[in-house]
Amino acid sequence: MLEQFEKIGKDALASLKKVNHLKALEDFRVKYLARKGQITKMLGQIGQFPAEQRAQAGQLANKIKKEVTEVFEQLKKSLLQAQQEKSREFVDVTLPGIAVNIGKTHVITQTINELLEIFGRMGFAVAYGPEVEDEWHNFIALNIGPEHPARDPFDAFYIDDNTLLRSHTSPVQIRVMEQTKPPIRVVAPGRVYRPDTVDATHMYMFYQLEALVVDEGVSMVDMKTTIDQFIHTFLGPDTKWRFRPSFFPFTEPSAEVDLMLADKTGKESWVEMGGCGMVDPNVFDAVGIDSEKYTGWAFGFGIERLAMRKYGITDIRLLFENDLRFLEQF
Ligand code: DAH
Repeated sequence: MLEQFEKIGKDALASLKKVNHLKALEDFRVKYLARKGQITKMLGQIGQFPAEQRAQAGQLANKIKKEVTEVFEQLKKSLLQAQQEKSREFVDVTLPGIAVNIGKTHVITQTINELLEIFGRMGFAVAYGPEVEDEWHNFIALNIGPEHPARDPFDAFYIDDNTLLRSHTSPVQIRVMEQTKPPIRVVAPGRVYRPDTVDATHMYMFYQLEALVVDEGVSMVDMKTTIDQFIHTFLGPDTKWRFRPSFFPFTEPSAEVDLMLADKTGKESWVEMGGCGMVDPNVFDAVGIDSEKYTGWAFGFGIERLAMRKYGITDIRLLFENDLRFLEQF
């Protein structure tokens, strides 16, 4: 029996010498060291020896197991190392890396950032107001009484009698003037909501950029110069635009600003970008600013239409469909 133990040990060491890859090493482990392997079985046989031989058999079996296991572990280590080195050799550093898709800002966000930057350079601070607005800020303080016909195109999306989704960014003017004394020079970007029928230039939700300047001796010349400089900075020095007389309850006099815009057939026509005017004294009265001492001007421009004009986009709906083939172009 003891000779048999010796033989198993010798065979095991001999076949380990021939192992030169990991698969063969695993076959060896199954044959000798696994639960049903020959060396494991050998250890189980110690109990079958007559009592006087048992200690010797135990010693021999354990010695063989220790020797074989040591050689096995060492071989395993060096085979794994060799495999690692080999795979390292095969890294092709000229292959392109795995691209990480980090996304980017939406064209409207890009436009807002650019607008704030341009007006920032002209000395305007930035103000924000809530999209859920009350009647006072959206209408009353802006000189739009309950029965005023100017409410019609604005009157929608009520949450209760006194609360609605704001129909323009002009309420931010009121919020700024309630909290700040003149001189005031702010722009306010944000979403507004209207009961408009959707087409290539209209949406029920869109963005506006509001501006408000209040100081002593401010005139319409300041307004026209600022708008002119803004349009030429944002759209290029040759951009044609015009003032068209208009009416807003919160400005007197009032005007609309038109830009030439091409439709999808390439045909150009004047398209309204927004309204502007000299702040009506009633608005100053509503917020407690002395209308004898101060004058001011304001505008509210549609941000989508500015972006459409700048990038040659012919349908406003493209901006909200979130089709990546469209968005990736900006
Ligand atoms: N709030 C107006 C609108 O949404 C636009 C507007 C007109 C804003 C005149 C102004 C302004 O600040 O002075 O149609």
